[in-house]
Amino acid sequence: MSNNDPDRPARDAGDRPERRGRFITLEGSEGVGKSTNLARVVAWLEARGLEVVQTREPGGTPRAEAIRELLLDPVVEEPLDADAELLLIFAARAQHLARVIRPALARGAWVVCDRFTDATFAYQGGGRSIDATRIAELERFVQRGLAPDLTLLLDMPVEAARSRLAERGGAPDRFEREHASFFTAVRQAYLARAAADPGRFAVVDASRPLAAVGDQIETLLDQRVAAWQS
Ligand code: TMP
Repeated sequence: MSNNDPDRPARDAGDRPERRGRFITLEGSEGVGKSTNLARVVAWLEARGLEVVQTREPGGTPRAEAIRELLLDPVVEEPLDADAELLLIFAARAQHLARVIRPALARGAWVVCDRFTDATFAYQGGGRSIDATRIAELERFVQRGLAPDLTLLLDMPVEAARSRLAERGGAPDRFEREHASFFTAVRQAYLARAAADPGRFAVVDASRPLAAVGDQIETLLDQRVAAWQS
C-alpha cells in the first residue's frame, strides 16, 4: 500500500491535517467498570447524531485481536519477556491505527476506544517498570502525533477493584494474575499521567455507584464536547 492510497493518511504528516473526528479513550485498572461506562459514552455520542466507532486495545482488528490472545494467554511454560510484551502491544496498535482508528477519524467518525497508550505507560511502564522514555519512543514511531482528545480515567482503590473483579468470576488472564503491588503501580502511573495532562484527562471516581459514575461522565462530555464545538 503506498502513501497515495486514499485509505492511508500520509505517513509523516502528523495526524492533524487529515483528522475530522474526535478520539476518546477510557482507561483504568481491571474491575473499575470500563465496559459499562464505555457503552454510556457511545450512547451519549450517538444520541447527538454522531457516527461512533467503538473499539478496544489490545485488539480492534482480527490480526490485532490475535496479538491480544498472545498477550492475555496465561501459558506458564514460556513466560513472555517484558520487551516482547511491549512490542506486541505496539504492533497491535499499529495495525489498529492503520485499519480502524485513522480511517474512522479521517471520515469524521468519533472513535471511542477501551484503552490506548496510557495503558502502556501504566501497565508496561508502571507495572513492568519499563522506562517511560522507551515507551515514548515507540509511541512517536507508531502514532506519529496521533493522541486521544479526551481520556476518561476510571479510578478506584486497588483492593476494591480486585474484589469487583473476583466477583465477576472466570479464569484470570495473564495480567489479572498479577499481584496487588503490580496494580498499585499501574494505578499510580495512571494518576501521574492524568496529573501531568489535565487538559486531556478527566479522572472519575469509579468507586461510587454506577449511576453516579455515569452521570459524571455525561457531565464531562457535556463540558468537553461543548468546548470543542464552540
Ligand atoms: P482489558 O481487560 O481492559 O480488555 O485489557 C486487556 C489487558 O491488557 C489489561 O490487563 C491491560 C493490558 N494492557 C496492557 O498491559 N498494555 C496496554 O497498552 C493495553 C492497551 C492493555
